[in-house]
Amino acid sequence: MKITVFNSSPRADKSNTNVMAEAFLKGAKEAGADTENIFLARQKIKPCLGCFSCWVKTPGKCVIQDDMAELLRKFAGADIVVFATPLYVDNVSGIMKNFMDRFMPLADPHFEKDEQGQYRHVKGMGKAPKIVVISNCGFPEQDHFQVLRLLFRRIARNLHSEVIAEIYRGGGEILQVDHLILKLLVWKYRKLLKKAGREVVEHMQLSEQTMEELEKPIIPHDLYINGANKEWDKQLAHIKKRP
Ligand SMILES: Cc1cc2nc3c(=O)[nH]c(=O)nc-3n(C[C@H](O)[C@H](O)[C@H](O)COP(=O)(O)O)c2cc1C
Repeated sequence: MKITVFNSSPRADKSNTNVMAEAFLKGAKEAGADTENIFLARQKIKPCLGCFSCWVKTPGKCVIQDDMAELLRKFAGADIVVFATPLYVDNVSGIMKNFMDRFMPLADPHFEKDEQGQYRHVKGMGKAPKIVVISNCGFPEQDHFQVLRLLFRRIARNLHSEVIAEIYRGGGEILQVDHLILKLLVWKYRKLLKKAGREVVEHMQLSEQTMEELEKPIIPHDLYINGANKEWDKQLAHIKKRP
């Protein structure tokens, strides 16, 4: 089984998203998967031109010369793809949006009705990979991922696929804080992510218990906010207050 992570944080391997993705992949690898972790920030991905050449002139092929052709090959060649993104303005990062806009060559332009009687494009690629979503955000509540939950359900429908696991972490700024107790709590959370990676490979889904555990805060929200505000004070201490 091939699992490929597409990480869209501009912070690439230093990102909180990567802390999550790496732990998940570790579990997946232990369960026998062949894994790859791709940092989109290090790839050349130009924005879609909206020319529809990939549908009507060179079907399945984009006119833009950049890294996207190879990335699409990797995408289509995976059994499971992981969309890993920080939450930006309640949505995926711009890098991820650019990446996803460039999926046009994967679709056949003709319209058809889906099982719910709603129109979508005909499937363009052979086997669509199953989808896992990994995201983290700065605010502590899990509600901030409302848009992503809906967005990836829609994307899976468009790709004739399904979302088999969603892993969201509110209060994600805690994942790399240099503090003994927090490090211990994050270590426990990473263990849980590893378990999630194993479950996805072994069962193509997460257990109810794992899903429940993944939604729990690592520390209470008020403690997270107090710590964050103190950190902002520290970082802003050198700036003179306005009179
Ligand atoms: C441009 C930008 C927009 C952001 N928007 C949100 C947001 O809407 N909600 C939120 O909770 N955090 C938001 N954040 C905070 C990030 O989600 C947070 O810093 C996260 O830990 C970054 O993850 P990364 O290290 O994987 O890039 C935003 C950060 C940036 C830079």
